[in-house]
Amino acid sequence: MEETSLLWLLFLTSLLSGTTNTAALTVSPSSSQMFEDKSVSLSCEEDGSSAGWTLRRNTTRRKMSQCGAGWGRPAGSSCIIGLMVPWDSGVYWCESREGATSNSINITVTGGPVILQSPVLPVTEGEDLTLHCKTKTSSNLPAGFYKDGFFIRNEPAGHMTIHHVSRSDEGLYKCYISRVGESPSSWVSVTEKPKTTCPPPSPPPLIPASTTALPPYTTSDPPPSSDILHLVFRVVVHLVVFCLYCISTFIMVSLYRDRATGNDLSVSAVTAPPSQAEEGLDDDIITTVTTEHHF
Ligand SMILES: *[C@@H]1O[C@H](CO)[C@@H](O)[C@H](O)[C@H]1NC(C)=O
Repeated sequence: MEETSLLWLLFLTSLLSGTTNTAALTVSPSSSQMFEDKSVSLSCEEDGSSAGWTLRRNTTRRKMSQCGAGWGRPAGSSCIIGLMVPWDSGVYWCESREGATSNSINITVTGGPVILQSPVLPVTEGEDLTLHCKTKTSSNLPAGFYKDGFFIRNEPAGHMTIHHVSRSDEGLYKCYISRVGESPSSWVSVTEKPKTTCPPPSPPPLIPASTTALPPYTTSDPPPSSDILHLVFRVVVHLVVFCLYCISTFIMVSLYRDRATGNDLSVSAVTAPPSQAEEGLDDDIITTVTTEHHF
């Protein structure tokens, strides 16, 4: 019964890949630097729901502290920080009850006069990267841009675009506006382009693992904002997968039994043996079925 255990393995794999979802942390407004006194909203999104995810942060003052525990206001799927202050600077991430973590986002809050707006999430190789240098009141003053402490170039309109980024564009960026001041520095990361033939590499896990395993589940949007419906939906999907495997296992077992009895018959009924062609055809069908199940 090797086939049956293989089927069980397949079934368990699909079940597991359907349940190990990852959350994605998003921030609005989407900027890794912001002026103090601004408000931000951070959301843990897992397939359109945020059930069971907690937003945490590390700052220079406190590590691993949770939204609502002295900072931020939990609001449905989000955490809202009404007035950012410089010591809200730090790394933010979502954590599930089981300890799974999302991508993390670095946020720098400045009391200074200039910010550099850089992407919050990693940029993929080959994409364009645009950096904006802003003051509180203006976003199109001439600005100088720096990477890893070295001057790159001046841009008359305050923003710089690097076309088709490569891994070497990864680094610590800042900008400077003449007679106003300098922004803090922010790290911009560039990730490898995912191969089209293989599933995307694990970091960053923005696309839930279930996308590849259970197409019907992800192509139809899960019911938004209703966690119970979402759960029921997932259970149904798993039941359907389970039934499919049970049915195929049953078919396989009965095919094997048929073949076994068929052989017995051909041995005992020597006077009227089934034609060789017929027997061969039966075998072919069985092999086709088994190979299909191996996939
Ligand atoms: C937050 O701080 C803790 C304790 O120092 C550390 O173990 C953890 O890796 C930090 N998390 C992030 C995402 O930086």
